[in-house]
Amino acid sequence: MTYLPVTSARPEPLRVGLIGAGWMGSFHAKSLAQRIPDASLAAIADPALESAQPLAAELGVAHVTADPGDLFADPEIDAVVIAAPARFHAQLAIAAARAGKHVFCEKPASLDLDEFARVEQAVGEGGIHWQVGFNRRYAADFLAARRDVADGVVGTPQLLRSLTRDPGTGSIRNADRVPHGTIFVETLIHDFDALNWFNSGAEPVSVYVAADALVEPELRGMGFIDTAVVTIRYENGAIAAAEANYSALYGYDVRGEVFGSRGMVQAGRATETAALRFGAKGLSAETPRLNIELFADAYTAELADFVGQVRAKRDGGEAPDHGVPLTPGLADARRALAVARACIESVESGEAVRVAAILGG
Ligand SMILES: NC(=O)c1ccc[n+]([C@@H]2O[C@H](COP(=O)([O-])OP(=O)(O)OC[C@H]3O[C@@H](n4cnc5c(N)ncnc54)[C@H](O)[C@@H]3O)[C@@H](O)[C@H]2O)c1
Repeated sequence: MTYLPVTSARPEPLRVGLIGAGWMGSFHAKSLAQRIPDASLAAIADPALESAQPLAAELGVAHVTADPGDLFADPEIDAVVIAAPARFHAQLAIAAARAGKHVFCEKPASLDLDEFARVEQAVGEGGIHWQVGFNRRYAADFLAARRDVADGVVGTPQLLRSLTRDPGTGSIRNADRVPHGTIFVETLIHDFDALNWFNSGAEPVSVYVAADALVEPELRGMGFIDTAVVTIRYENGAIAAAEANYSALYGYDVRGEVFGSRGMVQAGRATETAALRFGAKGLSAETPRLNIELFADAYTAELADFVGQVRAKRDGGEAPDHGVPLTPGLADARRALAVARACIESVESGEAVRVAAILGG
Protein backbone atom coordinates (compact mmCIF):
# COMPACT_ATOMS: atom_id res chain seq x y z
CA MET A 1 0.00 0.00 0.00
CA THR A 2 1.31 3.46 -0.85
CA TYR A 3 -0.28 6.49 0.73
CA LEU A 4 0.00 9.78 -1.11
CA PRO A 5 1.68 12.74 0.60
CA VAL A 6 -0.67 15.46 1.81
CA THR A 7 0.37 19.05 2.42
CA SER A 8 -1.91 20.48 5.06
CA ALA A 9 -3.44 23.87 4.27
CA ARG A 10 -4.39 24.35 7.89
CA PRO A 11 -2.34 26.79 9.96
CA GLU A 12 -0.83 25.72 13.24
CA PRO A 13 -3.43 25.42 16.01
CA LEU A 14 -3.50 28.06 18.72
CA ARG A 15 -1.57 26.71 21.71
CA VAL A 16 -3.60 27.37 24.83
CA GLY A 17 -2.74 26.88 28.50
CA LEU A 18 -5.47 26.18 31.05
CA ILE A 19 -5.36 27.83 34.49
CA GLY A 20 -7.65 26.08 36.94
CA ALA A 21 -8.57 22.45 36.34
CA GLY A 22 -11.80 22.29 38.33
CA TRP A 23 -15.40 21.94 37.18
CA MET A 24 -15.45 24.63 34.48
CA GLY A 25 -11.78 24.32 33.57
CA SER A 26 -12.19 20.61 32.84
CA PHE A 27 -14.98 21.31 30.37
CA HIS A 28 -12.94 24.03 28.65
CA ALA A 29 -9.92 21.69 28.59
CA LYS A 30 -11.91 19.07 26.70
CA SER A 31 -13.17 21.72 24.25
CA LEU A 32 -9.61 22.87 23.55
CA ALA A 33 -8.22 19.33 23.25
CA GLN A 34 -11.10 17.67 21.41
CA ARG A 35 -13.86 19.97 20.17
CA ILE A 36 -12.07 22.96 18.61
CA PRO A 37 -9.83 21.89 15.71
CA ASP A 38 -7.98 25.23 15.54
CA ALA A 39 -6.76 24.97 19.13
CA SER A 40 -4.58 22.65 21.14
CA LEU A 41 -4.31 22.33 24.90
CA ALA A 42 -0.60 22.80 25.56
CA ALA A 43 -0.38 22.86 29.38
CA ILE A 44 -2.44 22.87 32.56
CA ALA A 45 -1.70 24.89 35.71
CA ASP A 46 -3.46 24.33 39.02
CA PRO A 47 -2.04 24.42 42.55
CA ALA A 48 -4.16 21.31 43.14
CA LEU A 49 -2.06 18.90 41.10
CA GLU A 50 -4.46 16.11 42.02
CA SER A 51 -6.96 17.86 39.71
CA ALA A 52 -4.54 18.85 36.96
CA GLN A 53 -2.63 15.60 36.54
CA PRO A 54 -5.53 13.21 35.81
CA LEU A 55 -7.04 15.77 33.41
CA ALA A 56 -3.72 16.08 31.58
CA ALA A 57 -3.37 12.31 31.45
CA GLU A 58 -6.89 11.90 30.07
CA LEU A 59 -6.36 14.51 27.35
CA GLY A 60 -2.75 13.71 26.48
CA VAL A 61 -1.38 17.05 27.67
CA ALA A 62 2.37 16.90 28.21
CA HIS A 63 2.89 19.84 30.58
CA VAL A 64 1.39 20.18 34.06
CA THR A 65 2.39 22.64 36.74
CA ALA A 66 1.16 23.97 40.07
CA ASP A 67 2.28 27.48 39.10
CA PRO A 68 0.40 29.52 36.43
CA GLY A 69 3.59 31.60 36.11
CA ASP A 70 5.14 28.69 34.21
CA LEU A 71 2.51 29.17 31.48
CA PHE A 72 3.19 32.90 31.26
CA ALA A 73 6.93 32.22 30.86
CA ASP A 74 6.44 29.55 28.20
CA PRO A 75 7.11 30.91 24.68
CA GLU A 76 5.22 27.92 23.25
CA ILE A 77 1.94 29.17 24.73
CA ASP A 78 -0.10 31.73 22.80
CA ALA A 79 -3.11 32.15 25.07
CA VAL A 80 -4.55 31.14 28.42
CA VAL A 81 -8.01 30.19 29.64
CA ILE A 82 -8.52 31.34 33.23
CA ALA A 83 -10.93 29.10 35.15
CA ALA A 84 -9.54 29.58 38.65
CA PRO A 85 -11.80 30.91 41.42
CA ALA A 86 -13.09 34.44 40.82
CA ARG A 87 -10.87 36.19 43.36
CA PHE A 88 -7.79 35.26 41.30
CA HIS A 89 -9.10 36.26 37.87
CA ALA A 90 -7.81 39.82 37.74
CA GLN A 91 -4.29 39.12 38.98
CA LEU A 92 -3.94 36.16 36.60
CA ALA A 93 -5.22 38.19 33.64
CA ILE A 94 -2.82 41.03 34.43
CA ALA A 95 0.14 38.65 34.62
CA ALA A 96 -0.92 36.96 31.37
CA ALA A 97 -1.33 40.28 29.54
CA ARG A 98 2.09 41.45 30.71
CA ALA A 99 3.55 38.23 29.31
CA GLY A 100 1.80 38.88 25.98
CA LYS A 101 -0.62 35.96 26.30
CA HIS A 102 -4.16 36.37 25.00
CA VAL A 103 -6.77 35.79 27.69
CA PHE A 104 -10.09 34.05 27.91
CA CYS A 105 -11.30 34.73 31.45
CA GLU A 106 -14.22 33.01 33.11
CA LYS A 107 -16.74 35.35 34.66
CA PRO A 108 -16.55 37.48 36.69
CA ALA A 109 -13.62 39.36 35.17
CA SER A 110 -12.88 40.76 38.61
CA LEU A 111 -14.64 41.23 41.92
CA ASP A 112 -14.27 45.01 41.99
CA LEU A 113 -14.01 47.86 39.54
CA ASP A 114 -10.69 49.34 40.73
CA GLU A 115 -9.01 46.00 40.26
CA PHE A 116 -10.70 45.64 36.90
CA ALA A 117 -9.29 49.00 35.82
CA ARG A 118 -5.83 47.46 36.29
CA VAL A 119 -6.86 44.57 34.05
CA GLU A 120 -8.00 47.02 31.38
CA GLN A 121 -4.71 48.86 31.59
CA ALA A 122 -2.62 45.68 31.34
CA VAL A 123 -4.68 44.40 28.40
CA GLY A 124 -4.24 47.73 26.61
CA GLU A 125 -0.49 47.80 27.22
CA GLY A 126 -0.09 44.13 26.30
CA GLY A 127 -2.00 44.54 23.03
CA ILE A 128 -3.67 41.20 23.60
CA HIS A 129 -7.17 39.90 22.90
CA TRP A 130 -9.14 39.62 26.14
CA GLN A 131 -12.54 37.97 26.34
CA VAL A 132 -14.87 37.12 29.22
CA GLY A 133 -17.00 33.98 29.66
CA PHE A 134 -20.50 35.36 29.13
CA ASN A 135 -21.53 32.10 27.50
CA ARG A 136 -25.26 32.85 27.30
CA ARG A 137 -24.60 35.06 24.28
CA TYR A 138 -23.46 31.95 22.40
CA ALA A 139 -26.53 29.80 23.20
CA ALA A 140 -28.46 29.39 19.95
CA ASP A 141 -31.75 30.68 21.36
CA PHE A 142 -30.19 33.72 23.06
CA LEU A 143 -28.29 34.57 19.88
CA ALA A 144 -31.47 34.19 17.80
CA ALA A 145 -33.27 36.55 20.20
CA ARG A 146 -30.46 39.09 19.96
CA ARG A 147 -30.63 38.92 16.16
CA ASP A 148 -34.39 39.53 16.35
CA VAL A 149 -33.76 42.64 18.44
CA ALA A 150 -31.16 43.82 15.91
CA ASP A 151 -33.56 43.15 13.02
CA GLY A 152 -36.32 45.19 14.67
CA VAL A 153 -38.61 42.18 15.13
CA VAL A 154 -39.56 43.23 18.68
CA GLY A 155 -39.46 46.96 17.91
CA THR A 156 -38.25 49.30 20.65
CA PRO A 157 -37.37 47.28 23.78
CA GLN A 158 -39.60 48.26 26.70
CA LEU A 159 -39.41 45.35 29.14
CA LEU A 160 -36.57 42.85 29.45
CA ARG A 161 -36.28 39.81 31.68
CA SER A 162 -33.53 37.38 32.56
CA LEU A 163 -33.50 34.66 35.17
CA THR A 164 -31.12 32.12 36.65
CA ARG A 165 -32.38 29.39 38.92
CA ASP A 166 -29.57 27.12 39.95
CA PRO A 167 -30.46 23.51 40.63
CA GLY A 168 -30.17 22.71 44.29
CA THR A 169 -30.96 20.23 46.94
CA GLY A 170 -32.65 22.76 49.20
CA SER A 171 -29.45 23.18 51.21
CA ILE A 172 -26.35 25.03 49.99
CA ARG A 173 -23.04 23.45 50.88
CA ASN A 174 -20.83 25.78 52.98
CA ALA A 175 -23.33 28.61 52.52
CA ASP A 176 -21.88 30.40 55.54
CA ARG A 177 -18.60 30.77 53.62
CA VAL A 178 -20.11 32.22 50.44
CA PRO A 179 -18.93 35.86 50.29
CA HIS A 180 -21.47 38.64 50.57
CA GLY A 181 -22.68 39.73 47.14
CA THR A 182 -21.82 36.48 45.37
CA ILE A 183 -25.31 36.15 43.91
CA PHE A 184 -24.78 39.47 42.08
CA VAL A 185 -21.08 39.26 41.17
CA GLU A 186 -20.93 35.58 40.22
CA THR A 187 -24.47 34.43 39.35
CA LEU A 188 -26.60 37.37 38.19
CA ILE A 189 -23.63 38.82 36.32
CA HIS A 190 -24.70 36.49 33.49
CA ASP A 191 -28.20 38.01 33.56
CA PHE A 192 -26.86 41.57 33.71
CA ASP A 193 -24.75 40.91 30.65
CA ALA A 194 -27.63 39.23 28.78
CA LEU A 195 -29.88 42.22 29.50
CA ASN A 196 -27.21 44.77 28.56
CA TRP A 197 -26.54 42.84 25.37
CA PHE A 198 -30.22 42.47 24.44
CA ASN A 199 -30.70 46.20 25.06
CA SER A 200 -27.48 46.99 23.26
CA GLY A 201 -26.39 50.59 23.00
CA ALA A 202 -28.34 51.73 26.07
CA GLU A 203 -26.43 52.15 29.33
CA PRO A 204 -27.91 50.80 32.58
CA VAL A 205 -28.82 53.88 34.66
CA SER A 206 -29.99 52.60 38.04
CA VAL A 207 -30.72 49.40 39.94
CA TYR A 208 -33.03 48.51 42.78
CA VAL A 209 -32.78 45.15 44.57
CA ALA A 210 -35.18 43.06 46.64
CA ALA A 211 -33.18 40.15 48.09
CA ASP A 212 -33.28 37.67 50.94
CA ALA A 213 -32.05 34.33 52.26
CA LEU A 214 -35.11 32.19 51.58
CA VAL A 215 -33.30 28.90 50.90
CA GLU A 216 -31.05 29.26 53.98
CA PRO A 217 -33.06 31.60 56.24
CA GLU A 218 -30.86 30.91 59.27
CA LEU A 219 -28.02 32.70 57.45
CA ARG A 220 -30.05 35.87 56.88
CA GLY A 221 -28.43 37.56 59.86
CA MET A 222 -24.98 37.10 58.28
CA GLY A 223 -26.06 38.92 55.12
CA PHE A 224 -26.22 35.75 53.03
CA ILE A 225 -28.44 36.10 49.95
CA ASP A 226 -29.79 33.20 47.91
CA THR A 227 -32.78 34.88 46.26
CA ALA A 228 -32.85 38.23 44.47
CA VAL A 229 -34.89 40.31 42.07
CA VAL A 230 -33.13 43.26 40.45
CA THR A 231 -34.88 46.07 38.59
CA ILE A 232 -32.66 47.90 36.11
CA ARG A 233 -33.63 51.13 34.37
CA TYR A 234 -31.85 51.89 31.09
CA GLU A 235 -31.12 55.23 29.49
CA ASN A 236 -33.43 54.39 26.53
CA GLY A 237 -36.30 54.06 29.01
CA ALA A 238 -36.44 50.26 28.96
CA ILE A 239 -36.98 48.53 32.31
CA ALA A 240 -35.44 45.13 33.02
CA ALA A 241 -35.91 42.51 35.72
CA ALA A 242 -33.24 39.97 36.62
CA GLU A 243 -33.89 37.26 39.16
CA ALA A 244 -31.95 34.41 40.71
CA ASN A 245 -32.41 31.67 43.25
CA TYR A 246 -29.90 29.05 44.39
CA SER A 247 -32.23 26.11 44.80
CA ALA A 248 -34.49 25.21 41.90
CA LEU A 249 -35.36 21.62 42.77
CA TYR A 250 -36.61 20.91 39.25
CA GLY A 251 -33.35 21.65 37.42
CA TYR A 252 -31.18 24.35 35.87
CA ASP A 253 -33.49 27.06 34.61
CA VAL A 254 -32.12 29.96 32.55
CA ARG A 255 -34.35 32.16 30.44
CA GLY A 256 -34.36 35.57 28.77
CA GLU A 257 -37.02 37.76 27.20
CA VAL A 258 -37.30 41.03 25.32
CA PHE A 259 -40.71 42.68 25.00
CA GLY A 260 -41.00 45.68 22.73
CA SER A 261 -43.27 47.92 20.70
CA ARG A 262 -43.72 45.30 17.95
CA GLY A 263 -43.69 42.02 19.85
CA MET A 264 -41.68 39.77 22.09
CA VAL A 265 -38.89 37.22 21.83
CA GLN A 266 -38.05 34.59 24.42
CA ALA A 267 -34.92 32.46 24.88
CA GLY A 268 -34.44 29.42 27.05
CA ARG A 269 -36.90 26.83 28.30
CA ALA A 270 -37.14 24.77 31.45
CA THR A 271 -37.12 21.40 29.65
CA GLU A 272 -33.95 19.69 28.47
CA THR A 273 -35.33 18.97 24.99
CA ALA A 274 -38.56 19.75 23.18
CA ALA A 275 -39.78 16.20 23.97
CA LEU A 276 -42.89 16.06 26.17
CA ARG A 277 -44.10 12.80 27.72
CA PHE A 278 -47.89 12.33 27.66
CA GLY A 279 -49.26 9.75 30.15
CA ALA A 280 -52.20 8.81 32.31
CA LYS A 281 -51.08 11.29 34.98
CA GLY A 282 -50.53 14.14 32.56
CA LEU A 283 -47.48 15.73 30.94
CA SER A 284 -43.84 15.39 31.97
CA ALA A 285 -40.42 16.25 30.58
CA GLU A 286 -36.76 15.96 31.53
CA THR A 287 -35.02 19.08 32.81
CA PRO A 288 -31.29 19.87 32.60
CA ARG A 289 -29.43 19.49 35.90
CA LEU A 290 -25.98 20.75 35.04
CA ASN A 291 -24.63 23.90 33.44
CA ILE A 292 -22.40 21.77 31.23
CA GLU A 293 -25.52 20.04 29.88
CA LEU A 294 -27.56 23.17 29.26
CA PHE A 295 -24.69 25.21 27.85
CA ALA A 296 -22.41 22.55 26.33
CA ASP A 297 -22.67 24.05 22.85
CA ALA A 298 -22.45 27.64 24.10
CA TYR A 299 -19.31 26.95 26.16
CA THR A 300 -17.69 25.38 23.13
CA ALA A 301 -18.82 28.19 20.80
CA GLU A 302 -17.47 30.96 23.05
CA LEU A 303 -14.03 29.31 23.12
CA ALA A 304 -14.12 28.67 19.37
CA ASP A 305 -14.86 32.37 18.91
CA PHE A 306 -11.95 33.24 21.24
CA VAL A 307 -9.63 31.05 19.19
CA GLY A 308 -10.88 32.65 15.96
CA GLN A 309 -10.46 36.17 17.35
CA VAL A 310 -6.92 35.50 18.56
CA ARG A 311 -5.88 33.87 15.31
CA ALA A 312 -7.24 36.82 13.34
CA LYS A 313 -5.31 39.20 15.57
CA ARG A 314 -2.13 37.13 15.48
CA ASP A 315 -2.20 36.09 11.81
CA GLY A 316 -3.93 39.18 10.40
CA GLY A 317 -6.88 37.21 9.01
CA GLU A 318 -10.62 37.87 9.13
CA ALA A 319 -12.10 37.88 12.63
CA PRO A 320 -15.24 35.76 13.06
CA ASP A 321 -18.30 37.78 12.01
CA HIS A 322 -21.52 36.87 13.83
CA GLY A 323 -23.78 39.45 12.22
CA VAL A 324 -24.49 41.07 15.61
CA PRO A 325 -22.07 42.26 18.30
CA LEU A 326 -21.18 39.05 20.13
CA THR A 327 -17.66 38.62 21.50
CA PRO A 328 -17.80 39.96 25.08
CA GLY A 329 -14.85 42.22 25.85
CA LEU A 330 -13.63 44.68 28.47
CA ALA A 331 -16.50 47.18 28.12
CA ASP A 332 -19.10 44.42 28.49
CA ALA A 333 -17.37 43.02 31.56
CA ARG A 334 -17.12 46.48 33.14
CA ARG A 335 -20.78 47.29 32.46
CA ALA A 336 -22.04 44.02 33.99
CA LEU A 337 -19.69 44.34 36.98
CA ALA A 338 -20.86 47.92 37.60
CA VAL A 339 -24.48 46.70 37.74
CA ALA A 340 -23.47 43.92 40.15
CA ARG A 341 -21.61 46.35 42.43
CA ALA A 342 -24.57 48.76 42.33
CA CYS A 343 -26.80 45.85 43.44
CA ILE A 344 -24.62 45.27 46.51
CA GLU A 345 -25.00 48.95 47.42
CA SER A 346 -28.75 48.77 46.86
CA VAL A 347 -29.01 45.82 49.27
CA GLU A 348 -27.01 47.74 51.87
CA SER A 349 -28.95 51.00 51.51
CA GLY A 350 -32.38 49.65 50.60
CA GLU A 351 -32.48 52.35 47.93
CA ALA A 352 -32.16 52.52 44.16
CA VAL A 353 -28.51 53.12 43.17
CA ARG A 354 -27.22 54.98 40.12
CA VAL A 355 -24.77 52.86 38.15
CA ALA A 356 -22.79 55.95 37.13
CA ALA A 357 -22.10 56.65 40.81
CA ILE A 358 -20.49 53.21 41.08
CA LEU A 359 -18.35 54.02 38.07
CA GLY A 360 -17.31 57.30 39.71
CA GLY A 361 -19.53 59.48 37.51
N1 LIG B 1 -19.73 30.50 32.77
C1 LIG B 1 -20.35 29.64 33.59
O1 LIG B 1 -21.50 29.30 33.39
C2 LIG B 1 -19.58 29.11 34.77
C3 LIG B 1 -20.04 27.96 35.43
C4 LIG B 1 -19.28 27.48 36.50
C5 LIG B 1 -18.15 28.16 36.91
N2 LIG B 1 -17.77 29.29 36.27
C6 LIG B 1 -16.61 30.05 36.70
O2 LIG B 1 -15.44 29.26 36.52
C7 LIG B 1 -14.52 29.57 37.56
C8 LIG B 1 -14.14 28.27 38.24
O3 LIG B 1 -15.30 27.71 38.81
P1 LIG B 1 -15.38 26.12 39.07
O4 LIG B 1 -16.80 25.85 39.36
O5 LIG B 1 -14.69 25.39 37.98
O6 LIG B 1 -14.54 26.01 40.42
P2 LIG B 1 -13.71 24.76 40.94
O7 LIG B 1 -13.51 24.99 42.40
O8 LIG B 1 -14.34 23.47 40.51
O9 LIG B 1 -12.30 24.87 40.19
C9 LIG B 1 -11.38 25.87 40.45
C10 LIG B 1 -9.99 25.29 40.25
O10 LIG B 1 -9.06 26.36 40.32
C11 LIG B 1 -7.94 25.91 41.08
N3 LIG B 1 -7.23 27.08 41.62
C12 LIG B 1 -7.36 27.67 42.83
N4 LIG B 1 -6.53 28.72 42.91
C13 LIG B 1 -5.87 28.81 41.73
C14 LIG B 1 -4.89 29.68 41.22
N5 LIG B 1 -4.45 30.72 41.93
N6 LIG B 1 -4.44 29.47 39.97
C15 LIG B 1 -4.89 28.44 39.25
N7 LIG B 1 -5.83 27.57 39.67
C16 LIG B 1 -6.31 27.77 40.91
C17 LIG B 1 -8.53 25.00 42.12
O11 LIG B 1 -7.54 24.14 42.65
C18 LIG B 1 -9.60 24.28 41.32
O12 LIG B 1 -9.09 23.11 40.71
C19 LIG B 1 -15.21 30.56 38.50
O13 LIG B 1 -14.80 31.84 38.19
C20 LIG B 1 -16.68 30.41 38.17
O14 LIG B 1 -17.39 31.61 38.36
C21 LIG B 1 -18.45 29.75 35.19
